[in-house]
Parts: sequence; structure tokens; C-alpha cells
Amino acid sequence: MKIATIGRGNIGGGLGDFWEKAGHDVTRLGKEGGDVSDADVVLVAVPGGAIADALDKVTGLDGKTVIDATNLIGAEPPNGFGSNAEYVKSKTGGPTAKSFNLNFAAIYDRLGRTKTRPSNIWTGDEEARAAVEQLIRDAGYEPVYAGGLDNARMQEQSLALLFSINQAGAGAVFYRIAPPDEF
Ligand SMILES: NC(=O)c1ccc[n+]([C@@H]2O[C@H](COP(=O)([O-])OP(=O)(O)OC[C@H]3O[C@@H](n4cnc5c(N)ncnc54)[C@H](OP(=O)(O)O)[C@@H]3O)[C@@H](O)[C@H]2O)c1
Repeated sequence: MKIATIGRGNIGGGLGDFWEKAGHDVTRLGKEGGDVSDADVVLVAVPGGAIADALDKVTGLDGKTVIDATNLIGAEPPNGFGSNAEYVKSKTGGPTAKSFNLNFAAIYDRLGRTKTRPSNIWTGDEEARAAVEQLIRDAGYEPVYAGGLDNARMQEQSLALLFSINQAGAGAVFYRIAPPDEF
């Protein structure tokens, strides 16, 4: 796949490296923005409160399949939207997924070296499923689907629970959600 990342820090840079290793062609954009017309899939990985500004500086987003990995820390989604992912969809009109926001970049270096694959929760459009589930697997996780894009708000708000686990002493954790016979 041709992938463009909007944001090239811990998340955009880190996932871009995994996806290149898996054989994808990755272009990374920073604050200056750029054009994503060529991309099959676009990852959004900028500070959550900067999403409107970041998308304004990117051309070629119309109809694109987008994975939104942002978290809103001390910020709200733009223009009264329930989630950043729904805001993204309002700008692109294309298949949209929320993923990678509930997984710590600090332990990306442990992926591929665990006894079982960690989970990665995603919500979003059915039309995005093939791409997002492949890219979750290509990063080293197992996808766990949590419903349509109207559940992205709940997924974004779930960060508070993950942070609480982190700060209560566990640090950066993987998690695994799977049927009983997989344990
Ligand atoms: N770190 C984690 O463990 C983690 C986990 C899950 C989700 N997230 C979320 O993922 C997003 C990215 O986190 P990160 O840790 O990768 O951050 P980061 O390392 O600080 O990288 C941020 C990236 O966003 C770009 N950026 C900042 N402001 C921008 C703007 N106004 N317009 C366009 N681009 C802008 C930066 O551009 P330049 O390269 O030009 O500076 C940089 O490439 C955040 O929403 C974060 O909450 C983080």
C-alpha cells in the first residue's frame, strides 16, 4: 500500500517504520503539510488539539481511507464533533477508522517479541476494515473491532482508563482482548 502519515513523530514515525518493513511505501508529513493524493491510506498522528490545523495544510484528502490515531489531551474535537475521527470523516468523506490511540509508542520496540500478539482496538467504517486490520497486523498487533465510527468518541475517551492504569503503577502496557479459547 502507499501510505501517507500526517505527523512523523513517535506514532507516525514509529508506525511508518513498521509498515516500511512490511513492504509498504510510506511518506511522512510534518507541520508543513503536503499532498496525499497518491496515498491508498492516510494516518493522522498529530497532537489531537492540532487536527484541524494539520488537515488544513494537507491536500488530496478527498475520499481517502484515513486512520486517526490522535488523542485529545486537554482539548476537544473541533466544531462540536463528538470525536476527532468523526471530524476527519467530515473533511474527507472517505472510509475512516480510529486506531493506535490506545497503544503506547514507548513499547513499540517490544512488538514482534511477545509470546502472544497484543491487541489494538479500532472503531470505524466497514469500508476501512481491510486496510486498517492489515496495517494493525503489519505493526505487530491483533485487531479488536469495537463498532462503527459513532463509537470513536468512546474509544477516544478510553484513554483516561489506559492512563490511569499506566499511572497507577503498570507503566506502558500491552493488553489483550480475545475469546476464552485463545488464552
Ligand atoms: N506517544 C504515544 O504513545 C501515543 C500513543 C497513542 C496515540 N498518541 C497520539 O498520537 C498523536 C501523535 O503523538 P506523537 O507521540 O507521535 O507526537 P510527536 O512525537 O510529538 O509528533 C507529533 C507530530 O505532529 C506534527 N505536528 C504537530 N503540530 C502540528 C500541526 N499544527 N500541524 C501539522 N502537524 C503537526 C509534528 O510535526 P513536525 O515533525 O514538523 O514537528 C510531528 O511530526 C497525538 O495525538 C498523541 O496523543 C500518542
